[in-house]
Amino acid sequence: MKNFKAYLLQKNNEKVTGQVQEISFDMLPVADCLIEVHYSAVNYKDYLACQTNGGVVRTYPFVPGIDLAGIIIQSANENFPVGQKVLATSFGLGVSHFGGWSEYASVPSEWLIKIPDEISLKQAVTLGTAGLTAALCVEAIKNHLRPDSRILITGATGGVSTMARILLKQLGFNNLVLMSQKKFETNDPVLSTADFLAQPKKALAKQEFDAVIDTVGGAVLSQLLSQVTYGGIVASCGNAGGIKLETTVLPFILRAVTLAGIDSVNTPNDLRQKAWAQLFSSFDFEKVSPEIISLAQIPEVVTDFAKNRHVGRTVIQVRSNS
Ligand SMILES: NC(=O)c1ccc[n+]([C@@H]2O[C@H](COP(=O)([O-])OP(=O)(O)OC[C@H]3O[C@@H](n4cnc5c(N)ncnc54)[C@H](OP(=O)(O)O)[C@@H]3O)[C@@H](O)[C@H]2O)c1
Repeated sequence: MKNFKAYLLQKNNEKVTGQVQEISFDMLPVADCLIEVHYSAVNYKDYLACQTNGGVVRTYPFVPGIDLAGIIIQSANENFPVGQKVLATSFGLGVSHFGGWSEYASVPSEWLIKIPDEISLKQAVTLGTAGLTAALCVEAIKNHLRPDSRILITGATGGVSTMARILLKQLGFNNLVLMSQKKFETNDPVLSTADFLAQPKKALAKQEFDAVIDTVGGAVLSQLLSQVTYGGIVASCGNAGGIKLETTVLPFILRAVTLAGIDSVNTPNDLRQKAWAQLFSSFDFEKVSPEIISLAQIPEVVTDFAKNRHVGRTVIQVRSNS
């Protein structure tokens, strides 16, 4: 088989650089399914993967891309036959195993999710890791919510947060508060991240939020725990603003606040399958319009992430004929 296009990261003189290159099939990792990739996406982790000290990729040359959607063209697993439309996210994809920024990917069948006929490859990848993570966050907080619960979503213009907002509204939770560093148009109230962080730091502050989906971590998570209402819950899934958590035990022991950790990478299979089945059967795709780019446009989007100009979901159309 002839060579194909991929976005390849190389490390030279301690500096990581990436570009679209022709690579050969023998560079792909060994796995039981070969996939003709049609779509991938750019997530925060992919942005980190492209950085010299991003802490995501350890060996080079490497093909990033933690999401991919495509069609199986070779398979050693009869449950995943040739022609099957599949989505791959999670596990080592785009981290320790060549990912989706490539016209072909070799992926273990245990990592694959079958895409139902009525869902397109583009729709499946639009959901991708962001959709799965948002669904896991919503699942984690759902049992704590009343219809009028006041729910804060941090890092509001990001991919996971955009998906979480859509999912919560679909479930009828409309009392949302968004926290963002950016100015953007929305019908929901927006708290500026800088204004929020400028508030005096207290172990227990005025009770403002019944539930939180937090993609930012660091100082934002540290500060918001003191403002969660009695019996409330925070789903912590991200660290875009830092990894250090400074808190006291008071929100937990005096207000019965729950801090729930969310991980989409090693989610147990039953939970993962359930989340995908729900997303495919009920997600309102009309509510999200991803930016569509080519492999060659990846550097521009990575720069947008670095300068905090990136908004929503970015989908990569890997093949010009998709
Ligand atoms: N646990 C998991 O399984 C899992 C899965 C997926 C993603 N994640 C994590 O979740 C986070 C969001 O991922 P994503 O792909 O949605 O990323 P994203 O699209 O870049 O969204 C992150 C958002 O956080 C805000 N932000 C960025 N830098 C910040 C800073 N220094 N301080 C405060 N806010 C900042 C920005 O929103 P505003 O400008 O609107 O504030 C940004 O859009 C990342 O940390 C990612 O690693 C975790």
